[in-house]
Order: sequence, then C-alpha cells, then structure tokens
Amino acid sequence: MKNQFLAVLLSAFCLLSQAQQRQVIKPGEVWPDADGKHIQAHGGGIIKVKNTYYWYGEERTRGLDTNKRYVSCYSSKDLTNWKFRGDVVQMEDPDNLGPKWILERPKVFYNEKTKKYVMYFHLDNRTYKVAKVGIAVSDKADGQFKYVKSFRPLDHESRDIGQFIDDDGTAYLVFEDRPFGFRIAKLADDYMSIEKEMCLIPAHMEGGAIVHYKGLYYAIGSGLTGWRANPNKFATATSLSGPWSAFRDIAPPETNTYGAQSTMIIKVVGKKSTTAIFMGDIWRPAAQWDSRYLWMPLEIGDGNLKLPEPKPWQLNIKTGEWNYISAD
Ligand code: DGJ
Repeated sequence: MKNQFLAVLLSAFCLLSQAQQRQVIKPGEVWPDADGKHIQAHGGGIIKVKNTYYWYGEERTRGLDTNKRYVSCYSSKDLTNWKFRGDVVQMEDPDNLGPKWILERPKVFYNEKTKKYVMYFHLDNRTYKVAKVGIAVSDKADGQFKYVKSFRPLDHESRDIGQFIDDDGTAYLVFEDRPFGFRIAKLADDYMSIEKEMCLIPAHMEGGAIVHYKGLYYAIGSGLTGWRANPNKFATATSLSGPWSAFRDIAPPETNTYGAQSTMIIKVVGKKSTTAIFMGDIWRPAAQWDSRYLWMPLEIGDGNLKLPEPKPWQLNIKTGEWNYISAD
C-alpha cells in the first residue's frame, strides 16, 4: 500500500515537472530561463559537452556595474529549457580601453586535451578602433573565466567573431576583418592562439556563422549596418579553404532577416534527422536587455539554404526532428 502511494506520488511529481518544462521555442518573444527571467545571452555561442549544452553570451541586464562587462552561462539538455549558471565573466577594462569599452560576442570552446574552457571575445574601445580578440580561461563550464590576453588574430583587425567546430572536432574562429573581409582561422591545439588562416572570403560581412551539412560548408553573415538588421546572406564551399560561392539571401531581403542578425548555427544530429538551427539576435539598441532571439531550423541542403518565416516550433532533441506548433 505504502509503495503504491509512493508510486502515485512520484508519477504526479513527474507530470508536474514535465508541465513546467517549456516545450516550444518562440522566435522574437521573451525567452524565460528556469527562474522565469528573460535569457541574457546576446551575440552568443553554444557548445555541447557530454549531454549538456552551454549557452554563453553578453549579459545585458539593467543595473549592472557599468564599468564592468559580463558574460552569462546557461545550461540545457534540450536547447529549449535553460538554467542560468551565473555570470562567468565579470570583468573590468583589462586593456586600458577607456570608458564604454566593448566586450561582445563571447564564444567558448572546450579543449578535450587540456580540459580547459577557452573563451574568445571581441575586445574594443568605444569607437571600435582597437579591433582585437580577448581570451579568458576556466577549468569548469560555469566557473569564473580568468582573463589571459588580447591580440589581433594573425595581426588582422577583428571585430565580430563567430565559432565553428567541425565534425572531426577541429575548432575555428570566424572573424570580420574590416579592410579585407570574412576570415576563417584554425585554432592552435590548446586553443590559446590562432594556428593558421583557412580562408579569406573577400566579402564585408559580420555575425559570422558556419555549419557543415551533408558534405558542404555553409557560411552565413550579415551586412555592416551596426545594430540595425539587414539581409543576411550565405555562401557554400566543399572545403573551408574555399573556393566559396557567391553570397545569396537567406530570407526575402525586404524582411531584413526578420529583424535578426546571425550569431551561430547549431547542428543537432538526432537518431532520425539532422537539424541546423539558425541562431540570431534581434537587437534592441536602446534597450539591449530586452533584445530577443530568433532561432529557427534552416531549410538546408544541396547548396541551398533558407531561413523560414519565424513561427513557434518544437525540437525533439533525441530524434533531431522539429515541427511547427500553434501555441503551448
Ligand atoms: C553589429 C555587430 O554585429 C554587433 O556585434 C555590434 O558590434 C554592433 N554592430 C555595434 O554597432
């Protein structure tokens, strides 16, 4: 009798916690974390370590110390429900950059050999003239990252950065070099420096994101219009070193990418299907804490890529399948 009672209690508890789980991703809307607060991980990047996804991004909550810059960390098992793990960077100006210094687009790579989490970010002064990357390191995904150094990758200007980890685990930095274009560079073995350039795509694009899908590389970037949305574009190549095709629109150009700017593409390889998710920021420059996210599965394959019109959708993390949903 006692056992039966316990079993009923347990299943009631399971049902309750399932009900509290978010099932739907709603592009452009407030995205509450497990504490009910809008996720603060703008210009972010995601890594998967074992079965956990970690999302790092710019923490732009109102009321933080304006002399410091913050990077948040969230974790999830399903890419839909996110738990805030803390601000893993809470840093004062590390490089005498002056008032209103910039730390943007943090990207974390986990190094299997050194067991370190290595964060790259765009480091700059208020006029965006310094154009460097900074590196900070932690032993834990949600530990405090310690600032190590800053530099210009391969001596090139670097503003927006993106990350790409290929199917064989090789890690790359994508960076925008204003005079020349979009560069893809391989990280050194310990990820603490850049080993070599793979390619310069002579196109003036930022918000760089790459996915390797069914034998082809697809690179997405946005135009250079500050915080204002513009038509993001994509190109393809059979090798990261190119040659790359011409860039084409990922969405009807009049929608300006439905108000979003690319930051990353996440590839979910499930038991039945592989889904490439476009991860973009809908910036609100006058109210950055309220900037939103546009995540949508891409229609991708055979050299074509399309960002569908954003609508609520649901991802099955196990099968890799997704579907539109009317409401939750
Ligand atoms: C667009 C970039 O993509 C953002 O990261 C940020 O640097 C803004 N420009 C600043 O205007």
